[in-house]
Amino acid sequence: MTVSSAPGKVYLFGEHAVVYGEPAVPCAIELRARVEVTERSDGKLRVHAEDLSLDGFTVEYGGSTAGRPDVNVSESLVSAAMGYVDEAIGQVRDVTDTDDAGFDVTIESDIPLGAGLGSSAAVVVAAIDAATRELGVTLETDELAERAYRTEHNVQDGQASRADTFCSATGGAVRVEGDDRRSLEAPDLPFVIGFDGGAGDTGELVSGVRQLREEYDFASDTVAAIGDIVRQGERVLEDGDLEELGRLMNFNHGLLSALGVSSRSLETMVWSARDAGAYGAKLTGAGGGGCIVALDATPETETALSFTPGCEEAFRAELAEAGVKRLE
Ligand code: MEV
Repeated sequence: MTVSSAPGKVYLFGEHAVVYGEPAVPCAIELRARVEVTERSDGKLRVHAEDLSLDGFTVEYGGSTAGRPDVNVSESLVSAAMGYVDEAIGQVRDVTDTDDAGFDVTIESDIPLGAGLGSSAAVVVAAIDAATRELGVTLETDELAERAYRTEHNVQDGQASRADTFCSATGGAVRVEGDDRRSLEAPDLPFVIGFDGGAGDTGELVSGVRQLREEYDFASDTVAAIGDIVRQGERVLEDGDLEELGRLMNFNHGLLSALGVSSRSLETMVWSARDAGAYGAKLTGAGGGGCIVALDATPETETALSFTPGCEEAFRAELAEAGVKRLE
C-alpha cells in the first residue's frame, strides 16, 4: 500500500487568462486530497471515495485497462472525479510501461469538488504519485506535474493550463506562464475562503470566455489586462505589500466578472469580505459558483462571511509550503 497527499489551491491572480498564455499566480493551501493505492493482480481498477464533499459512493471499473465504470454513476461531479482518476491511472501505466497494472484506489479529500480550490488537480497529483510509487517508480516533481497536467488536459478536452497541477505538485506560491513555471517567494498570506456550497462547470466556463474573446476585441483586451495585473501582482507579492495585493485582487475580480464567470453568490461573498475590512477579495478558479478568496485585514472577515446569505462555509486557509507529500 502506498499513500500520497497533495494540496488544493487558490488563485491570487490570473485564472482563465492563463489558458491563453498569460501568467497566473496560484497558491497552494492546507486542504489536502489523500490517495491510497494498492496494486491488484487482476489488472482491474477499483476506485473508492467516501468523502469528496459529496455523499459516500464506491465505483468499480471493470476490464484490464481503464474502461468505463460498470456501475451507473448518476452524480455528475462524482462521475467527473472518476474520469480524472481513470485518466491519471492511464498516465501511470504509460510512464511506468505497465499496460496491465491494476489498482485499488481510495480517495479522501478535504477539498470541495469543482469549487475553485483545485480538487481535481490535488486528487490527480496524489493518485499519480502514489500509484507510480506502488510500482516502484518515484517521479521527479516536474514529471509528476507534467503527467498530472496531461490528465487534466485530456479530461477537459484540451482546455487546461499547467497552473493547478504544477501548484499542487510543488506547493507554495507559484508562477505559471505557458510552459514556464517556477516557485515564488511569498510572505504570510492570511487567506479567508467563502464557499457557497456549489460548483461551476470548468469546461463550460472556459468555453464561455473563449467565445467572448472570439466575438469581442475588448474581451481579448480584458484577458490581456488580467495578464498585466498578474505581472504587477508578482512584484507586489515580493515586496509583501498586502494592501496593494488586495487592490489588485479586487481589480482582477472585476475583470473576471466582466468575462461572465462570476455569480450572484460569489459577488455577495466578495462584497461582504470587502465590507468587513479585507484587503481584497475575488472569486478563485473557474467561477460560476464555488469559492471566493479574501486577503484578510481583520479577524472580522471570516465571521462576516459566515453570516452572509448564500455562504455555506467560511474558513481560514494557510499557504501550504509543501506540495505532494509521500506518507507511506
Ligand atoms: C481552473 O481552476 C482555472 C482555469 O484557469 C482553467 C485552467 O487554468 O486550466 C479556469
